[in-house]
This record gives sequence, C-alpha cells and structure tokens, in this order.
Amino acid sequence: MRSALKEALSRAGHAVLTARDGEEGLRMFEERSPNIVISDVRMPRMNGLDLLRAVRVKNRETPFVIITAYASVDDAVTAMKDGATDYLLKPFSADTLDDLFHRVFDNGERVKAAVRPRPAEERGAGSKREIITSNEAMTRVVELARKVASSKSTALIHGESGTGKELLSRFIHENSDRANGPFVAVNCAALPETLLESELFGHEKGSFTGAIARKMGKFELADKGTILLDEITEMDPQLQAKLLRVLQEGEIDRVGGAHPTPVDVRVLATTNRDIKKAVAEGKFREDLYFRLNVIPLYLPPLRDRTGDIPILVSRFIDKFNRLMGKSVTGVNAEAMDALAKNQWKGNVRELENVMERAVLLASGETITLADLMMEPVAEMAEGAKATVGDEAMAGPDMTVAEMERKLILRTLDRSSGNRTKAAETLGVSIRTLRNKLNEYKISHGIDV
Ligand SMILES: Nc1ncnc2c1ncn2[C@@H]1O[C@H](COP(=O)(O)OP(=O)(O)OP(=O)(O)O)[C@@H](O)[C@H]1O
Ligand SMILES: [Mg+2]
Repeated sequence: MRSALKEALSRAGHAVLTARDGEEGLRMFEERSPNIVISDVRMPRMNGLDLLRAVRVKNRETPFVIITAYASVDDAVTAMKDGATDYLLKPFSADTLDDLFHRVFDNGERVKAAVRPRPAEERGAGSKREIITSNEAMTRVVELARKVASSKSTALIHGESGTGKELLSRFIHENSDRANGPFVAVNCAALPETLLESELFGHEKGSFTGAIARKMGKFELADKGTILLDEITEMDPQLQAKLLRVLQEGEIDRVGGAHPTPVDVRVLATTNRDIKKAVAEGKFREDLYFRLNVIPLYLPPLRDRTGDIPILVSRFIDKFNRLMGKSVTGVNAEAMDALAKNQWKGNVRELENVMERAVLLASGETITLADLMMEPVAEMAEGAKATVGDEAMAGPDMTVAEMERKLILRTLDRSSGNRTKAAETLGVSIRTLRNKLNEYKISHGIDV
C-alpha cells in the first residue's frame, strides 16, 4: 500500500517521503517539514492516531490525512476530533487521491504550486468507458441516458449491486456538456450521518471540535460538474431534508456557515434497494424521491440478460490479458455453461472478479471450469446452510463470535444476499452488518 501510494503520488508530480511506522514518520516530519502527511492508522511502534497527536503538538497547520477502512470508521471520527484534516476510506482510487488533494489544498492555498493534478486527457487514458451489452432493455437504458446526459435533470439509477450504476453515472457525465467539469461520487451508506453532512456540504473552521480548517464539501467540489449520491436510500431523514433544499434552491449550507453558497451541480443518485417501499414505509421522503426520480433508469440484473454473459466474458478476458500479460483466447464449453447458469448475485462485478481470477489461473489458452473456481463458493454457501440449521446455531463449544458469524451468514442466505434485508432481520444497521462482514471477511458471493 505504501509503495503503491508513493508511486501514484509521484506520478501525479509530488515529491514523496515514506516511513514504515509512526516513529519513523514523526522523525521525518521534524526533519523535512512536508506539506501534507498521509498516514495509516494501524502501524507498528506508533500508530496513526498517536502520530497525529504528536504532529499536532508541534504543528496545527500541516494537513494530516488518515487512511482507514469502512470497518473502523470510528478511527476517522476520533482522528477528525484530534485535528485530522481529512480521511481516506480504503480501498481508494487514484481519482479519490486527486479529489483529496484538491480538497486539502484548495482550502489553504498553501502549496498549490506543489500540486500538479494530471491533465484531464490523461485520466483513464486508454480505457474509454464502455457499457457492454447486447440486451434490448439495457440498450434502451443506455440510449435514454445518452439522450438526457446534457440536461440538468436529476436521474435516479435503480439496480442491484454490481449492475453498473456507477458506470452508467460516469457515462452520463462524460456524454454531457459538463464532461470537462468534475465527477464526484459520495457513498451515502459508508459514513455516519455526522460525517456525511460535512462531507457533502463542507464545514466552516471551528464549527465543531476538530474542524480546524474550512473544508470544502463534495457539492462544492462538484461545481460545474456532476455529483453521484450512491446508495441514497441509506441517507438519514434529516439529511434528506437538507438535500431536498439543495436540489430546490441550488445552494448549500456549510456546517457552521452563516450564508448559503450557490452551486451548479448535476445530481445523479443510485439505489440498490426498493426505494418505493422505503417511501411507503416512511423511511424515505416522498418529495425527495420525486425530485430525484425525474429520470428513472433501471439496470436489469445480469441473470435477466444472460445473453450479455458471453460478450462480457470476452471483454474481460481481453482486459485481464492486457493487464497480466497473458494470452487466453476463451473459455471451454463446460466453463461457459457454468457461467451462463450461475445466479450472479453480485452481477457484472462478480463476473468480472471471476474472470480476473480465471485469466490468472488459466494454464493454457482456454479457461476451464476449474479456473473459474465457482464450485467452492457454492459449496461453502451450501455448507453454511447445512450446518447452520436452527438446532446447530448455538453449541456449547461455540464462541459468541462464531455464533454471530453463523447467524449473519444464515440470514444473508435467507435474504438471497440482500444486505439491507438481512440487516433489517438482524435488527442492526446496514453499516454494522457491513462492518461485521468486513471483519469476518466472509466471501459469500456478495460484494462486502
Ligand atoms: N455493461 C457493462 N459493461 C462493462 N463493464 C461493466 C458493465 N456493467 C458493469 N461493469 C463493470 O462492473 C463493475 C461494477 O460496476 P459498478 O461499480 O458500476 O456497479 P454498481 O451498480 O455501482 O455496484 P454497487 O451497487 O455495488 O455500487 C465495474 O468494474 C464496471 O466497470
Ligand atoms: Mg456503485
């Protein structure tokens, strides 16, 4: 991770120093006075939060960004209180890093000269985004998306996990007259409400403990561009009301700010659950739903468009051949049969992952059933079902953690992998469920 980050940042034109842990980092900070510190939390000898405190004793100004996983987002909260400037949620992309640098340095104007963002043409070079399909319903969606791309109307993209909602959002942005503006994505389910509000709308210096500098919100960062509000159904009702105001007035209120700030942003949102049901249950504001759903776009699950499987397979083989320097030419009949029959609860993303592994494992020119490694996953799910019958749930020699894990697996099974449903049944928030899944690293054919 450290060397990958170093490489990405060097390529973006930054001079990078690396340290193996907090102690080494602190020494380096004192000797070299860097313009920004990016630190993981869990490190040997001195962890990231201790490093942050040690740095803040000496220096209140230098931006300090911590890296944390969804599973330990509490660390981010602690760090913000202790004076961190921002946080990065793992895993993150080069684009996220770019966003971060804009956010951090547009604020203070301190080291702008040192920041050389990649020119727009370089972004995603050679990988022109393409939505691959031969399916009629899908084609209609893509055509509709192209047609409405340049309007400023809000679009709500409905679809199961991995069906290509983000891909379609970027497609809309790239085909709009805002294509040269920013594209900013926010996952509404990933953060606690308190952080989400300042993430979206920004905050003023001193508006809460730890807000040591003014922070630009994602809406401001997306000015003249597009913002994608991912998993909008997970947004807390209070924040829904604020979002509605933004959509109606075209201006945002920073946390702790005195005046609204006008923004020119095209809003796209996604949902992977039944948002109408959430409206009916009073969990999602109806007025906001109508406001977002001006252009409804439905992405069908992969199992309803099995005709797409062979072309996606061939595209993914090309892609991973290129990335891995392999020369796989195709899949044999037995493997194709298995691919066509699979349920694909994780949709195109799951297929892409299976193909990545298969291209890696293929010893010859053709991918075989064994290379797909799909059985073990199915067996595992079956196994879980078999041993996790009601009677076997609690055993005298089981730890609480084991029981919890089994209960989660079983509930997920019964809800066909639907995290939202499973969380409801278990009586925990979807965030808690996700954290648990991350913790246990359950690979259950769903995207955790
Ligand atoms: N039609 C398609 N053609 C090519 N690639 C696709 C297609 N649909 C999805 N993909 C790829 O599958 C992966 C998942 O897509 P994406 O991230 O857009 O899904 P999503 O609906 O946003 O999922 P989630 O709900 O889990 O966020 C991406 O790597 C994307 O490029
Ligand atoms: Mg997505």
